[in-house]
Amino acid sequence: MTVEQLIPVAYLLAAVTFVLGLKGLSSPTTAVQGNRIAAAGMLVAVVATFFAREVQGGIPVILGGIAVGGVAGFYGARVVKMTAMPQMVALFNGAGGGAAALVAFLEFARSFQGYPVELGPTIATFLGLIIGAVSFSGSGIAFGKLQGVITPRAFRYPGQQAVTGLLVLAMVLLAAAILLSGRTGVFAVAPGAFLVAIAIVALVFGVALVMPIGGADMPVVISLLNAYTGLAVAMAGFTLSNQLLIVAGTLVGASGTILTRLMSKAMNRSLGNVLFGAFGAATTAGVTAAAGADDGRSIRSISAEDAAILLGYAQNVIVVPGYGLAVAQAQHNVRELADVLESKGINVRYAIHPVAGRMPGHMNVLLAEANVPYEKLFDMEQINPEFPRADVALVIGANDVTNPAARSNPGSPIYGMPILDVDKAQNVIVIKRSMKPGFAGIDNDLYLDPKTAMLFGDAKEAVGKVVAELKKAA
Ligand code: TAP
Repeated sequence: MTVEQLIPVAYLLAAVTFVLGLKGLSSPTTAVQGNRIAAAGMLVAVVATFFAREVQGGIPVILGGIAVGGVAGFYGARVVKMTAMPQMVALFNGAGGGAAALVAFLEFARSFQGYPVELGPTIATFLGLIIGAVSFSGSGIAFGKLQGVITPRAFRYPGQQAVTGLLVLAMVLLAAAILLSGRTGVFAVAPGAFLVAIAIVALVFGVALVMPIGGADMPVVISLLNAYTGLAVAMAGFTLSNQLLIVAGTLVGASGTILTRLMSKAMNRSLGNVLFGAFGAATTAGVTAAAGADDGRSIRSISAEDAAILLGYAQNVIVVPGYGLAVAQAQHNVRELADVLESKGINVRYAIHPVAGRMPGHMNVLLAEANVPYEKLFDMEQINPEFPRADVALVIGANDVTNPAARSNPGSPIYGMPILDVDKAQNVIVIKRSMKPGFAGIDNDLYLDPKTAMLFGDAKEAVGKVVAELKKAA
């Protein structure tokens, strides 16, 4: 057996590690290990590839590429702040899509032997090129929106659907021109020109797809583009007859699709609504609850001292973290608050809504950063039955994920979205800076509930003050 014959075995091994890695990533306790397993598999795959005959001539260039990409990736991953993680993912994802598109382009140019072209491999190449290019430019726009380089507002214009439709039509026609060339004799032109034209239209399509989507929806879009990149890589695998690329690309495509579906479902929106609905792009409802409601209910504001007293007398406290906690970077203060409460024998748990924050797993990552033990974090389904027994639900910078209108008001844009049943707790303390709405742009009836007390302020400062009050009382 030659070393080259062992390459498929190494690829199979790598493919198994990718599956095991994904399995590990499904739980916070095994995520780091899962990541390591998959990374080790990737290393095996990369090293094995060096023994393939076709790459022998290009080893110095490959090593140069690995050095540049490795240093950039390592540096980027080390310095990026947790809050900037979505744009980092967008950047990496775009690079993957761009690479797949380049592979498709160059492989077609290399293997082109005149018309007529072979149908199957050429279609795979086109798909790789188109999907990869869409993912590249789309991810670039997503990065720009999240980084604030491009306005995060949804960019809409009249005839938008028609423009997107025409771009798709142009790509189909250009691809058909190459496929039919030689058969009909009509399109016997240099294929390179057509291919470049397809790539340009695909890049424009990626921009046209993401520009009309509001900044807050970008995590869903990135997850979708991630699935696209996976598909483009799988197509590159078909073009290069490389099984590992097919397996790895399909895994990324499938997991990206599942994640996109989960996120849309947790927001109670269809993917079509995310892509074309511009939810959250403009405030959908007026802010009426500033002083109270028409029916006489009013908002009750409390001080940090009162909040500390309420918490100090509790036995069961459920902390509900949201986007505001992330913005304020209050995770360490929240951990400190839990420490103080637990030292008094109070049971503290955290309720994690699947789309709390602005990216998947946002709250888990933040709280893990502050060393909150995993076993204290509870998913929505687990914790919801516990709210009636909670003496205090402490909502910190969360809004939409606690809005009872999702259960009771069929007219609400978030009607049907699963929420945390915070309003069923004995007492509710909400920490936020004002009466402004959250991502969905709608008022929250929870704030008018007689059980609810508002502690207005920045999450970090407010929690800090409550901790100080609790310590004073100890
Ligand atoms: P939101 O509903 O957006 O509410 C966050 C609240 O935090 C705001 O009402 C804001 O009120 C408050 N806040 C902001 N900065 C603060 C600070 N420094 N200190 C204290 N409070 C602060 O967040 P949520 O409840 O976490 O819900 C998430 C929303 O994002 C959902 O609508 C979800 O569908 C959407 N979304 C989520 C994802 C993922 S994957 N997680 C992706 C896309 C969209 P003030 O301005 O009054 O302080």
